[in-house]
Amino acid sequence: MSISKTAQTKPQPLPKDEQSAADTLDEILASYRGDKSELISILQRTQLEMGYLAEESLNRIAVFLDLPSSTVFGVATFYAQFKLRPIGKNVVKICRGTGCYVKGAPRILAEFEKELGINDGETTEDLEFTLETVACFGCCALAPVVVVNEDVYGKMTTDRVKEILDTYKEKKDDE
Ligand code: FES
Repeated sequence: MSISKTAQTKPQPLPKDEQSAADTLDEILASYRGDKSELISILQRTQLEMGYLAEESLNRIAVFLDLPSSTVFGVATFYAQFKLRPIGKNVVKICRGTGCYVKGAPRILAEFEKELGINDGETTEDLEFTLETVACFGCCALAPVVVVNEDVYGKMTTDRVKEILDTYKEKKDDE
């Protein structure tokens, strides 16, 4: 057997990030019995602790519950609460409800997309910002409305987009 073949068959340690993710999932799964009825609860807790549901996590949850991967992926993609991609440190939500739409929400969304270089539903490569649209925040009198994390920005204009994003970038720089 050649040296290279020996190297290929030897188990390779996981990269540090992947190893710690695997350890975290092990700890989560250890607190469950492995009953299929626990699926939603496991998905919720995994997302809470790991930020999102990675493909590898979903596969391991499927093995743990003795379910087909397709079932676990199906549930994870059906419910809007579950995120299958990493979420940014700052989540920018733009209302696409009728009240905001008629007051210019599409232009606001386009400006955020341009400034961040991503589309609705995506996260910047540095994991700083995620861009999302929502149906209605319930404060239509402030239309058009944007919410960044817990901060509400009413009567938004495209001119304020860069300034608002800079605020959150500065918060990062201060840390
Ligand atoms: S339509 Fe935008 S807050 Fe209601």
